[in-house]
Amino acid sequence: MRLTKDTIDQIHQAIDVVEVISDFVSLKRKGHYYSGCCPFHNEKTPSFTVTPAKGIYKCFGCGKGGDAIQFVMEHEGASYVEAMAYMAKKYNIEIKEEELSEGQNLEQTEKDSMLVVTNYASQYYIDQLWNSEDGKAIGLSYFKERGFREETIKKFELGYSHDQWDGFTADAIAKGYKVEFLTKTGLSIERDNANDGSQKKYFDRFRGRVMFPIHNVAGRVTAFGARILKTDKTQAKYLNSIESAIYHKSKILYGLFQAKQAIRKEEECLLVEGYTDVISLHQSGVENVVASSGTSLTEDQIKLVKRYTPNITILYDGDAAGLKASLRGVDLILQQDMNVSIVVFPEGEDPDSYVQKIGPTSFKEYIKKHKRDFISFKTEISLKEIGSDPIKRADVIKDIVESISKVPDAIKRSVFFRECSKLLEIDEQILISEYNKKAIQKGQQESKKWEADRNAYQELPPIQEIELPEDIVKLSLEEESLKMHERDMMRYLLNFASSSMEENLPLSDYLIHELQDVEFKNPAYDYIFKHIIQLRQQGEQVIHTYFIQQEQPQYVRDAAIDLLSTKFHVSENWEKFQIDIPKDADVLNTVVPRTVLRLKRAVLRCMIEDNMKLMVSNNSDSEIDELLLIHTQLKSILGEIDKTLGTVIPKL
Ligand code: CTP
Ligand code: MN
Repeated sequence: MRLTKDTIDQIHQAIDVVEVISDFVSLKRKGHYYSGCCPFHNEKTPSFTVTPAKGIYKCFGCGKGGDAIQFVMEHEGASYVEAMAYMAKKYNIEIKEEELSEGQNLEQTEKDSMLVVTNYASQYYIDQLWNSEDGKAIGLSYFKERGFREETIKKFELGYSHDQWDGFTADAIAKGYKVEFLTKTGLSIERDNANDGSQKKYFDRFRGRVMFPIHNVAGRVTAFGARILKTDKTQAKYLNSIESAIYHKSKILYGLFQAKQAIRKEEECLLVEGYTDVISLHQSGVENVVASSGTSLTEDQIKLVKRYTPNITILYDGDAAGLKASLRGVDLILQQDMNVSIVVFPEGEDPDSYVQKIGPTSFKEYIKKHKRDFISFKTEISLKEIGSDPIKRADVIKDIVESISKVPDAIKRSVFFRECSKLLEIDEQILISEYNKKAIQKGQQESKKWEADRNAYQELPPIQEIELPEDIVKLSLEEESLKMHERDMMRYLLNFASSSMEENLPLSDYLIHELQDVEFKNPAYDYIFKHIIQLRQQGEQVIHTYFIQQEQPQYVRDAAIDLLSTKFHVSENWEKFQIDIPKDADVLNTVVPRTVLRLKRAVLRCMIEDNMKLMVSNNSDSEIDELLLIHTQLKSILGEIDKTLGTVIPKL
């Protein structure tokens, strides 16, 4: 799909950021903005805001922000094009045929067509389950025998495929679905006709099985798992859809679509192995559960979970040998800075069988009681296994340190060191130095950075030995202060981009005039300012949303969102305007020039600081004289600015 500029503009004009986000988050009006609980992290008091005047959302808790399109992309895991298509549909904006079938994005229409087919198939299998004789007698009764209630069967859209060669395929072709997509999704299989090589025959992949549709996070069916009903040792218990453009087994978690709200609410995601475990637990009221579908967890799957919660609990139902193998995969989860716990089930039970056996209440209690933090769990079972063999013991220590080293958060790491030192009966310091050894060996970024910091520190000139203006020590915060003033200035520029000052002078032009020689320290601000200069040179209006659009580099979009959404904290009776746009040109006429002066002042003070550093490192008298002259000049300009600002400056 390649949208024309016209369609893109239409979509942008139609979008109401509050309307779009309200479909996903419950928002309350708070004057000029709306607030609610952030969908991107766990919180109980709302710090997520939507400002309709600016068309943006911003969470002051986790920092996420953007426009409505960004929201849909982030929330639904959609691509830009998918998000635009979503908006078009929501606002009844027609996307023309040509746009749908244009060039590079053929792939996108192919995916769409495949999704149409898989979703039709899902309906077909549901219909077979509930409305055909075989479906009812074989499929439905199988589910019921397993203890699934009707509402559960409906909720998970379970179905049934007939034991026929081409029941589904023939039906789909008759209804006009293209063979191409039937085969690309793997629902139909192509065979040469044995008698006549020229003719192709098509038959069903899934025959005589109960069907578990697999949904993506947006709730569309992308694939199926199909369970055999007979006990036939020659056939696999589950037959799954093939990998395709719309189904990558390693990137999907079964049940996430049905579980995502509960995962957010419970602030925890339970991870099980099988389709039936997910369904049984749901039915028992444990809804924050997903399955990795029999494979070991992948990084993509972990990232999916992380969108909803940092807490993951693995419900393990295998034997000891399998447990060791699957523990290896857990380091991947730790690396993502997630908190991992584990619950082991009694021999021979899986979550499905166990919850049906002991009932929901006892099941929840069991989980609560047996939940163990992963690293200490691993330490304990490793110790049990090795007994008192000292060599193996050393290996265990290395292994545990390896796991702990995967935890990116230093505070959490130190807690683990302490805990494991107790379990291993070994001095905490030994664990830590083992970790440091490893960190240095591997040249891990963190340790490198630390080294770099230390070296940089050591290379600083020895300040106390120099007999130069003593303000140098106090000035070390100048750069920080400059950054803050840059940000203040940029906030006015972006928020009031289209406002005018006295004599209809656009604010942007005033600032360009005042600050054209200033080089912004912050690269994003520099980018924005240079672009605004360019826009104005081309006679274009500066629209504040320009820098948050998808075409802009990520760092610029992040900075623009920050500038547009942070409350003003400038003193001057300015509070009342907060994130509103003041209509009053007088405010701009007084506040903005002062902000400019403050920025210039900060720039000057940085220059003075730099100049002093030069004085420190230069030894010849003539050079120092020259630098001292510059120093005096800069100071005198600074004095002028201070006078204009009328600020009482604490003596340096
Ligand atoms: N699996 C698979 N192919 C197989 C066996 C298993 O894809 N041949 C996957 C399925 O996603 C299955 C999961 O591994 O759900 C766990 O396997 P298992 O515990 O054997 O299946 P259950 O879902 O528990 O099914 P049941 O209770 O009906 O035996
Ligand atoms: Mn099972």
